[in-house]
Amino acid sequence: MSPNQIFILLIIIPPAFFQSARGKDCVCDLKNSEPAFPDHKLTKVEATAKQCIRTITSEKMMEMDILVLGLQQRITQLDENMAKLENEDNSKLYGAVSMRIIDLEIAEIQNLLDKLNATTKGYNHLSIQTADQLEDMKDTMEDLEKFDNMQVVKKDRENQRYKKQLEECKDELEATLPPPTVLPGRCGLGRLVKVAGPRTYSLTVYSTSYTYGAWGRDVNPAPGDENKYWLVVLYTSNVYGNFIRQYSTLSTFLLNIGPIDTYIAGSNPTTNTIQGPNMVMYANALYYNCYNSYSVCQFNMTTKSVNTVALPSDTGYSSKFPFAHLGHTYGYTDMDFVTEESGVYVIYATTSNFGNVVISKVETSTPPVLGQTWSTSLHKRTVTNTFMVCGVLYATRYLDKETEEIFYSYDTKTNKERYDLRIHIKKMQANIQFLNYDPRDHLLYAYSDAYIVTYELVFQ
Ligand SMILES: *[C@@H]1O[C@H](CO)[C@@H](O)[C@H](O)[C@H]1NC(C)=O
Ligand SMILES: *[C@@H]1O[C@H](CO)[C@@H](O)[C@H](O)[C@H]1NC(C)=O
Repeated sequence: MSPNQIFILLIIIPPAFFQSARGKDCVCDLKNSEPAFPDHKLTKVEATAKQCIRTITSEKMMEMDILVLGLQQRITQLDENMAKLENEDNSKLYGAVSMRIIDLEIAEIQNLLDKLNATTKGYNHLSIQTADQLEDMKDTMEDLEKFDNMQVVKKDRENQRYKKQLEECKDELEATLPPPTVLPGRCGLGRLVKVAGPRTYSLTVYSTSYTYGAWGRDVNPAPGDENKYWLVVLYTSNVYGNFIRQYSTLSTFLLNIGPIDTYIAGSNPTTNTIQGPNMVMYANALYYNCYNSYSVCQFNMTTKSVNTVALPSDTGYSSKFPFAHLGHTYGYTDMDFVTEESGVYVIYATTSNFGNVVISKVETSTPPVLGQTWSTSLHKRTVTNTFMVCGVLYATRYLDKETEEIFYSYDTKTNKERYDLRIHIKKMQANIQFLNYDPRDHLLYAYSDAYIVTYELVFQ
């Protein structure tokens, strides 16, 4: 029973009508043979419901998820280390070092287990209390139903049932219709048919402070860096960033253990700091839109130096051609960097292409250079984000608060565009500020109103 339904009840059963018009009184008495409606009971149920909602926050559920996820990661790591140790030759020193690493690993696992133990206990306590409250509410509501002469509660329940059946029917329809998304499969992946998930959903160490940001893994990592994750928040005005935070694994990321920050510049914003959220990491270099310019910046994480390459001079920047939908503009999203199997691309729009999307390959040499370029008919402001898989660009649009839709594709091998894709992405927050595909795990990485989210791409 939601507070809304409770409102309906209160409005529909008034005890009497009373009206005053030009001095004359107009009185309407309603003789009620039924006992008076016990609305104090309703008020109490409403209060309990509100309290229930407050105690079962998604954060409480998430805390457990994160811990379990962290645990899984550590155990995998331990497994790998054990395998390595078994394969090592019998050199005693090497073995001792590995043992030490494994000791540390086990200590961390114990640490996680303890945290999980504490969380589970708190959570158990919470569920028992909540179950009691729910039972109580159920009794009261059954009681109240006896007073429900207009059968609002019953009808409402029926409505809910119909609504559910409608949803199920819709799901079935979607499942049986052949998907209109017939795209050639490449890279041994087959056609993209579905986006599953979210697989992970979490806040960062910054909680909800920064609505614009980006994260993911290096798509072409140096040996030993395969499990590293990076995070950039647009620290200043939701537009500019000047440092990259890195974690050694996903679990240390989610638990904020041992972050390492690398600074592009001491102040923010300044020449060559980050502008806009849609950046990527490739071969230990970050690719992004340089501060207040139409250039691509390549920040070398090792040397901490920046190299640039300019896009055409009529390229939009500083919110000239941003991602948007009818109700909302995503500020400073003029340039979208994406990674796929063959490397890095930049998605932007130019005046000469009428504000429509242009795709350019970014060759990741030092300094970077622009490779092949494709012009599309896709208006940039009708798109909320893009990503690429196997040489195919996909664009998303905003359907509603819960759903983003992949509606467009451009195949750089055949130059064919399609506007009839209907692949849905289930959102946890209303807006997606960053979206990128990682060819190593076939996941979409999203930054969504301060939450970091992953989705799994399903290929046929
Ligand atoms: C959880 O904590 C309790 C004490 O608070 C302890 O008795 C129990 O052994 C712990 N369980 C695990 C799995 O660590
Ligand atoms: C970054 O610098 C290192 C060290 O000079 C170099 O080996 C590497 O190729 C550079 N990476 C890029 C992308 O420029």
